[in-house]
Amino acid sequence: MRSESNKVLREAATPADVARWRDDFPILQETISGEPLVYLDNAATTQKPQSVLAAEADYYRHTNANVHRGVHTLSQRATDQYEAARGKIARFINAAGSNEIIYVRGATEAINLVAQSFARPRLKPGDEILISAMEHHSNIVPWQMVCEQTGALLKVVTINDAGEFEFESFERLLGPRTRLVALTHLSNALGSIVPIERVIELAHSSGVPVLIDGAQAIAHLTVDVRALDCDFYAFSGHKIYGPTGIGVLYGKAALLDAMPPYQGGGDMIRTVTFEKTEYNELPYKFEAGTPNIAGAIGLGAALDYVGAIGIATIAAHERDLLDYATREVSAIPGLTIVGSARDKASILSFTLAGTHPHDIGTILDHRGVAIRAGHHCAMPVMQRFGLSGTARASFALYNTRAEVDTLVAALHQVTEIFQR
Ligand code: ALA
Repeated sequence: MRSESNKVLREAATPADVARWRDDFPILQETISGEPLVYLDNAATTQKPQSVLAAEADYYRHTNANVHRGVHTLSQRATDQYEAARGKIARFINAAGSNEIIYVRGATEAINLVAQSFARPRLKPGDEILISAMEHHSNIVPWQMVCEQTGALLKVVTINDAGEFEFESFERLLGPRTRLVALTHLSNALGSIVPIERVIELAHSSGVPVLIDGAQAIAHLTVDVRALDCDFYAFSGHKIYGPTGIGVLYGKAALLDAMPPYQGGGDMIRTVTFEKTEYNELPYKFEAGTPNIAGAIGLGAALDYVGAIGIATIAAHERDLLDYATREVSAIPGLTIVGSARDKASILSFTLAGTHPHDIGTILDHRGVAIRAGHHCAMPVMQRFGLSGTARASFALYNTRAEVDTLVAALHQVTEIFQR
């Protein structure tokens, strides 16, 4: 069950390591309905370590000023910290340079940017964009919009009953009219890992660029954009222990350079007259307006935090939790796991016979256990499995086997209520 993207898996962390990490997250001290919080909704958003909270607060306390605009000390300090965070991001995903890192609001904005600025000018009626049947809405709707605008067509690679990407379907659909492939790296609804290395190789052999939606993968799999050779990689800060409202579009410099700006405004220009505006260089060409400076600095702190532990160590710990949880919930009467890909990470989606996912979520909440229930912003995945929704537990570095035990005990209580 090892990911191709995560070949170096170390031993899982010891309980003492996890206890130390837990101490870094103040929110884990919360109680819900008098019970200790068991936070298992990490695929929706992760909690923030003290270092991220401090980085944001310190910025507002000691630095707050606009970036790239002032000669005064605070503005220069803000610019330095903001750009230093960009450098950390570039190193974290092994980009060739900081100019390939575009700050955006999140993965959603990154994908919309590529749809409008890269795809739209290139697409002609009858051209095709390939996605898969397990995409999040944010990697479906921007492509549908650009298809409506250009007359291009959306083609969908199938998944099997285990929730695995069907490579043969991809090979069949990749054709002379394919202009872009846009795929998730790790499904938020099923936990399936897509073999993006093989996808990128095959797409490139036909001259087709590839965008990877890494919103889920970024906190769970090693991402090396140069080893992958992907053309674009999108992710959000809040799913990797960083703040909300900040995200990243990585793009190869040559592609970004050739793209028109996505939005117009301050900072994305070199000169402006009423007759003509000359755009700024990368990455600023894509960053109109005052950016989320505190968010960028907070994201830099989050990547420092994750980097100090190591994604391989985190992935091994989450693998242990997922295997343990999978074994334990399998004994619950009427429980069906949705998504059993051989290559899977951090997500356990399931249904309970005769029980609506929202009821599961509500009863678990009364036991202090936070999970997500519903379609997970991936309605076509639910349709593929003939479901309206699932319950989903998703793991992060601070979760423990004891928390899985609490989840399982609470699920037994749900079955007692609904199946007696
Ligand atoms: N995409 C997020 C999730 O999977 C919100 O819950």
